[in-house]
Amino acid sequence: MLDVLVTGGAGFIGSNFVRYALETRAEWRVTTLDKLTYAGRRENLHDVMTHPRHQFVHGDICDAAVSGPLVERSNVVVHFAAETHVDRSIAAAGEFIRTDVEGTFVLLEAARRAPGLKRFIQISTDEVYGSVTTGASRETDELKPRNPYSASKAGADRLAYSYWATYQVPVIITRASNNYGPYQFPEKLIPLFATNAIDDVPVPLYGDGRNVRDWLHVLDHCRANRAAKVEALDFRAAVVAQPVDLLFALDSLGDHAQPQPLRELNH
Ligand SMILES: NC(=O)c1ccc[n+]([C@@H]2O[C@H](COP(=O)([O-])OP(=O)(O)OC[C@H]3O[C@@H](n4cnc5c(N)ncnc54)[C@H](O)[C@@H]3O)[C@@H](O)[C@H]2O)c1
Repeated sequence: MLDVLVTGGAGFIGSNFVRYALETRAEWRVTTLDKLTYAGRRENLHDVMTHPRHQFVHGDICDAAVSGPLVERSNVVVHFAAETHVDRSIAAAGEFIRTDVEGTFVLLEAARRAPGLKRFIQISTDEVYGSVTTGASRETDELKPRNPYSASKAGADRLAYSYWATYQVPVIITRASNNYGPYQFPEKLIPLFATNAIDDVPVPLYGDGRNVRDWLHVLDHCRANRAAKVEALDFRAAVVAQPVDLLFALDSLGDHAQPQPLRELNH
């Protein structure tokens, strides 16, 4: 059996990953460690909470007394736990630095002591590259995070890299693009547009809504993570959409999905 620790496993991608791992890997024992912030919900794991190969631990990755022993007994750590919403990071960045940077540090320190650890998968994000005017980012591109969320993720990303380079912790870093799919908290773009449209309220757009986003289905992300083998991987999707296109895709939900610029960020 392989002991797999999933941090942030009650969130959007983490809960999809836990479910997918239990379904597809009979030899994995999965432990979910989650603080259950506003973004994490037990309900996201409702069908696997009592699974015989799954244990749920309610705790904070920053709390070394809780997270340390869990990392030390693991063969694989898949580290999703983070504060993740850009707008919240602009309003108040402190919790992002604490969880994304300090929390990752606590886990990496424990990883140095973990005798059977084969992989520490640092779930980073393509947002560490900042705004890209043309084409797509490459793994060798400079990191230019432009908001506290992406900066805190870039800090965790480089910290994880340094633990690989300095202490040979078996780190793999993944930088996926925007995910969509089931169990996503409705503050994020696609579920927000969908629920606003259902409730017949305006949808918020940045600028003129023509920034291009690259979308990846959450299960494609989970499959790619399971297969991740090298130090840094960028996962991109086949679909590139602009928010305004999404409005058309959501049109069948109602006739009120008109772009409503609420505020502009300097992208
Ligand atoms: N959603 C995306 O489009 C996307 C794209 C690329 C990368 N990522 C990365 O994937 C990871 C998961 O993203 P998501 O969208 O599922 O996030 P999410 O906000 O839905 O879930 C985050 C989870 O982490 C938990 N958490 C937060 N702070 C914690 C702490 N201190 N200790 C333990 N648990 C804590 C929350 O309770 C929640 O369950 C993040 O690291 C994010 O940066 C997300």
